[in-house]
Amino acid sequence: MVHIKKVDIFGFKSFGFTNSTVNFEPGLVSISGPNGSGKSNILDAIIFALGENRPKIMRVDKLRSLIHDIEGARRGPKMARVSLQFDNSDRKIPVDSNSVVITREMDEHGENTYYLNQKQTNRNQILDLLEVANASLNQLNAVQQGTVTRISEFTAEEKRTVIEDLIGLSYFDEKKSESIKQLEDADRRLEVALARMDEIKKRIDELEVERNLKLRYELINREAWTIACDFSIKQNEGDSD
Ligand SMILES: Nc1ncnc2c1ncn2[C@@H]1O[C@H](COP(=O)(O)OP(=O)(O)OP(=O)(O)O)[C@@H](O)[C@H]1O
Ligand SMILES: [Mg+2]
Repeated sequence: MVHIKKVDIFGFKSFGFTNSTVNFEPGLVSISGPNGSGKSNILDAIIFALGENRPKIMRVDKLRSLIHDIEGARRGPKMARVSLQFDNSDRKIPVDSNSVVITREMDEHGENTYYLNQKQTNRNQILDLLEVANASLNQLNAVQQGTVTRISEFTAEEKRTVIEDLIGLSYFDEKKSESIKQLEDADRRLEVALARMDEIKKRIDELEVERNLKLRYELINREAWTIACDFSIKQNEGDSD
């Protein structure tokens, strides 16, 4: 199963402009510390790197507020950067390496850049990879304060959806409905094409009739002309006799 091995945080919320590393062992990991020391900010940093764009989810008013704003006197550009190192020994993330590093950087203008194993990529590619690995934002991979109570109040149907989400069934359900929609679209297009072919065939038949009539007309015209010529030659011969 895909799991995070390491989180590197730079300039994100309470984490200043020096790199901080949090290592995770498989299994249950607990982080303790005084109130306001930045425990929840680690989870915010993780979902930021996973591509979260809703400020409220990361407990800020706007995305730019995620950039650390205390070390104000620091020289150089202000930016937030979070890297997540995933264990990918079972290749659940469709990338052929034992560990996969996803990095998101945001500059002070709110511009974002994503990297996959240090190579620049785009957000959609990251989201697709994570979805295949069942590690995306949509699943209950990051359960924040308050969400736990909501889970306990889920209806049976909601619970089923969550479980399907967790085991990755919904991904295939979505792909299935997408494919069914594509098939329906293709069927519709085929119907339109067949209808057009019918029209064209009808037009070809009409043109064929017109062509035959024209050929007949030309033939008759030619024959009439020959007869008229013969007739006038014969008359001339008669006159000269
Ligand atoms: N942009 C920022 N720059 C600097 N510090 C920030 C920024 N955004 C948030 N913080 C700081 O993060 C701290 C809150 O961190 P966090 O919510 O992670 O604490 P916590 O350890 O989860 O606390 P609790 O135990 O109360 O849940 C606050 O002190 C706040 O000032
Ligand atoms: Mg907290």
